[in-house]
Amino acid sequence: MPSILLQDASVLPAGDGGTHAPILHPLSLELDTARTAVVGANGSGKSTLLKLLNGLVLPDTGTVSVDGLDTARHGAAVRRRVGFVFTDPLSQLVMPTGRDDVELSLRASVRNRVQRRAAAEARLEALGLLELADRSIYDLSGGERQLMALASVLAVEPAVLVADEPSTLLDLRNTAWLRRIFASLPQQVIYTTHDLDFAADADRVLVMDGGAVVFDGGPREGIAAYRALALGVG
Ligand SMILES: Nc1ncnc2c1ncn2[C@@H]1O[C@H](COP(=O)(O)OP(=O)(O)OP(=O)(O)O)[C@@H](O)[C@H]1O
Ligand SMILES: [Mg+2]
Repeated sequence: MPSILLQDASVLPAGDGGTHAPILHPLSLELDTARTAVVGANGSGKSTLLKLLNGLVLPDTGTVSVDGLDTARHGAAVRRRVGFVFTDPLSQLVMPTGRDDVELSLRASVRNRVQRRAAAEARLEALGLLELADRSIYDLSGGERQLMALASVLAVEPAVLVADEPSTLLDLRNTAWLRRIFASLPQQVIYTTHDLDFAADADRVLVMDGGAVVFDGGPREGIAAYRALALGVG
């Protein structure tokens, strides 16, 4: 598995002279587990932590590196390794249709246009999304769009997949489908979710509270810790 290393990485509010609490307190952590789920209350810092992992957010102190590549100095190389799926698929899908978007993702890796078209088609088919591939992304439902955004990120076969609440818009059936896809991916996957069944699929669970990781361990213990924290029960 790839190794993502955070060393005393912290994130401060933009333009803040130290008057407000950090968004992320200095955090040291190695992520090298196949499946890591990040859970915690709204505003606890989950998305911020995920954005550090591919350089979408740079640490204000400390460092973040992916297989030895510093996110601040080697952002482009890091982003080739670490694919990021946003919660809002419309902030991700930039082309008129899913097919165009997947083809765009493949532009660097498959130079030949005919081959690229075939590769995009094969990837969409593998994810069962071919039927939706030529529809305007604005005519897809929220959940369909979320799946299309995932397809577009997976198309380039990143070594690590980081997904911020990838199941929020999905119905029961598609959530089950997404969980099966995640289980079968060769990539290291790091994801946030408010769905505790989905979180339980992970090998490792991080619980966040107030910009800090307050638990790091197995899924059963992690989910129990989060329940205790959020609800005051064991
Ligand atoms: N650029 C910023 N400037 C100031 N505050 C910020 C900035 N980005 C995030 N925050 C604040 O930092 C906190 C953590 O935000 P983050 O998006 O990481 O939370 P989260 O755990 O993902 O929450 P949710 O479950 O609602 O998605 C929030 O209080 C948020 O308002
Ligand atoms: Mg979030």
